[in-house]
Amino acid sequence: MKTKTIFFCKECGAQSPKWLGKCPACGNWNTYEEENVQVTSNKSALTLPKKEKTKPKLLSGINLQEQTRIDTGNNEFNRVLGGGLVPGTIILIGGEPGIGKSTLALQIALKATNLKTLYISGEESEQQIKLRALRINKNSDNCLILNESSLENIVFHAIEIKPDLLVIDSIQTMQTEKVESSPGTVTQIRECTNELLKLAKTYSIPTILIGHITKDGSLAGPKLLEHMVDTVLQFEGDRNHIYRIIRAVKNRFGSTSELGIFEMQQSGLREVSNPSELLLSHYEEDISGVAISASIEGIRPFLIEVQALVSSAVYGTPQRSSTGFDLRRLNMLLAVLEKRAGFRLAQKDVFLNIAGGIKVDDPAIDLAVICAILSSDQDLSIDRTKCFAGEVGLTGEIRPVTRIEQRIIEAEKLGFTEIFISKHNKIQSLQSKFKIKISFASKVDEVFKTMFG
Ligand code: TYD
Ligand code: MG
Repeated sequence: MKTKTIFFCKECGAQSPKWLGKCPACGNWNTYEEENVQVTSNKSALTLPKKEKTKPKLLSGINLQEQTRIDTGNNEFNRVLGGGLVPGTIILIGGEPGIGKSTLALQIALKATNLKTLYISGEESEQQIKLRALRINKNSDNCLILNESSLENIVFHAIEIKPDLLVIDSIQTMQTEKVESSPGTVTQIRECTNELLKLAKTYSIPTILIGHITKDGSLAGPKLLEHMVDTVLQFEGDRNHIYRIIRAVKNRFGSTSELGIFEMQQSGLREVSNPSELLLSHYEEDISGVAISASIEGIRPFLIEVQALVSSAVYGTPQRSSTGFDLRRLNMLLAVLEKRAGFRLAQKDVFLNIAGGIKVDDPAIDLAVICAILSSDQDLSIDRTKCFAGEVGLTGEIRPVTRIEQRIIEAEKLGFTEIFISKHNKIQSLQSKFKIKISFASKVDEVFKTMFG
């Protein structure tokens, strides 16, 4: 038996016999870490059935079977997966510590009473898991719990039990005898994932892997973990907020634009099927600096509150800060307001916040951002029955956005009386379909006139 010292890149998993300052594979600096690798045996923990001869087929000769999806009993989770679990797939759920990954996985394992589930934790004892289960108030006669971190044992149990769903909490705590490094190192993570991948494919066991995230937000362990699995879900949200969002970063069996929304309660995660109602704050009086955007995240429309605070800069250089919205985009919008509409904002501090602690990518939020900033700057409140949907271009024009009708329907459903959209979204007879008043804008300077007179 020989021990070898190998250096691995934490980011991409590239290896080198000596330490390198810059990874030649991914270009990151200071990512090499030393590991002692001792190869004890080359045998796989799995005894695979004999290889069959594979045969290439003509594309036209391939039958399209409808992929059967397994219902997990959790609508938001089904949604991000693209309609349920696909048999034999490996799903990686990444998220910061304390965000609720274990809670979500246990909840799924317990709620899917029609599935035989096996929940394996390398982090918590069986008693701790029981306490958590009591807290989320679920009991199941179909869920087996195991505290184990030896991969060989896990594979043994999984083959014996043949669960319909296997949960591994977390991949960083698992250890295989095949390599002699400690859990959480690049070689361990890669070997363990490899074995679990074989297990999932050979026995058609859908597997959920839980993965930790490093301080800078990427999945701990190498990027190659993301390449190995079928689906990567990111569980995010502000720990201090109650909302949690799960989004697909990669999905071999569905779209990556879907997201699921949960609310962290005393008794576990509650599925949020109508997010708009939660994302709007409920105060009575009119406050300046608040505008509501009719946005679409994934395929779901929802109304999001944008809050802005504009005040004279105390220091020489004004501060710009943004939560939930791209800071560079905020700077661009401020420049557009300055240059195209003549607002003096260069000497002002601007703070922007998307309510509920969520992150928005939809460009249609631009118009609401601009209105919130102007409202705070001029200290004039915007009526809370109005909402906005439009992208703002560098020339100051309000550009049309996709799926406008869906946005209007959602705004109408939630009791808004007026929606501002781009003039170029003017579809014949759009107004006649809705009761809500539809107002059109073509330039940022017009918006101010129509909004504040
Ligand atoms: P946990 O699932 O352990 O997070 P992770 O596995 O991602 O590290 O749970 C994190 C937090 O959730 C913890 O601080 C307590 C809180 N929590 C609730 O608010 N309600 C609950 O029902 C449970 C189980 C946890
Ligand atoms: Mg956990």
